[in-house]
Amino acid sequence: MAAIVVEELRKSYGSLHAVRGVSFSVEPGEVFGLLGPNGAGKTTIVEILEGYRRRDHGRVEVLGADPATAGRDLRRRVGMVLQECAVEPYLTVREVVELHRGYYPKPLPTDDVIELVGLKEKARVRVKRLSGGQQRRLDLALALIGDPELLFLDEPTTGFDPSARRNAWEIVRGMRKLGKTILLTTHYMDEAQNLTDRVCVVSAGEVVRIGTPASLRAERAETRIQFVRPDGVSVPEVGEVVPGGEDGLMAMITETPTKALHELTAWAVARGLELERLEVSQPSLEDVYLELTGDE
Ligand SMILES: Nc1ncnc2c1ncn2[C@@H]1O[C@H](COP(=O)(O)OP(=O)(O)OP(=O)(O)O)[C@@H](O)[C@H]1O
Ligand SMILES: [Mg+2]
Repeated sequence: MAAIVVEELRKSYGSLHAVRGVSFSVEPGEVFGLLGPNGAGKTTIVEILEGYRRRDHGRVEVLGADPATAGRDLRRRVGMVLQECAVEPYLTVREVVELHRGYYPKPLPTDDVIELVGLKEKARVRVKRLSGGQQRRLDLALALIGDPELLFLDEPTTGFDPSARRNAWEIVRGMRKLGKTILLTTHYMDEAQNLTDRVCVVSAGEVVRIGTPASLRAERAETRIQFVRPDGVSVPEVGEVVPGGEDGLMAMITETPTKALHELTAWAVARGLELERLEVSQPSLEDVYLELTGDE
C-alpha cells in the first residue's frame, strides 16, 4: 500500500485555481520531492495532506486514511515542518521540544533530538532569541520528536547555512534508513538531487513531470564544454555556442562530446594552447527544472 496517494486533487482560493488536478503517489520508505516555482501549489498540496486545508475535489490518502476526516491517530504517526512555523517565543528550545513530545505516544528522547539538529548549545535559550536558521532547526526537531512514520518537510532547510544543510541532509538520510517515508519541498535543486528518490515538478498547479532525478537529467542529452576563451585566436565551434555565464568564458553544448572534445583539444594542442578552466559537464537537475518550469 502506498504511503501517500493523491488523485485528481483540486483546490481553489476564490477564483484562483491553486491546484488543478494533481495526481501522484509515494511509496513507503521513499523520499519524494515536490519541486516548483513560488506559488506553484506545493504548500497547498502538503497542507491538504497534513489535514490543515480542505480540498475541493479528488482523493487523498495518507497512511491509509483521509487526512480531512482522520483524527489524532493519524497526526501521531506523522511529523511535519510547516513553511510558516509559529513556535511559542517565550519558551526555551528544550521546553518547546518537551511540550511537543507530550503529544506523541512513543516520542524520542528530548536531548537526543536537540543534539541531532545541532541545538545542544541553545537548549536553554528562548525561541525568540534564536537566529532564523536556528528556529528552522527547531522546527525540524519538532517534526522528529514523535518518531513519525511519515515526515512532511516544507522547505525544511530554507535559511540554513551550508553546514546546517548538510547536517539536515544526514538527518533525512538517517530517517530514510530507518524506513520512514518523507515528502519534502525545496527550492534547492542540489538538495533534491542528493536526497530524493523521485521528484514531482509542479507548475501553476499542475504536474509537469514525475521521475527520479537521474531520469529527469537524462531528458537532456547534451554535454556542456566550457573554458576561458583564449586571446587573439578564433576557436573552432565544436558544438552550439551558448552564453558562457561568466565574463571571458566560452561555452558550447554538444550531443557528441567525445568527438567535440577531440577536435577542440587537438586544435589547442597543435597551437600549444592550454585551455584554462576546461570543464565538461552534464545538465544539472536545475537546468532541467528551469526548462520544465520556464516562462513562469
Ligand atoms: N490561504 C490562501 N488564500 C488565498 N490564496 C492562497 C492561500 N494560500 C495560497 N494561496 C495562493 O495559492 C497559490 C499557491 O500557493 P502555495 O503556497 O501552495 O505555493 P507554493 O508552491 O508553496 O509556493 P512557495 O514556493 O512560494 O512556497 C499562490 O498563488 C498563492 O498566492
Ligand atoms: Mg510553499
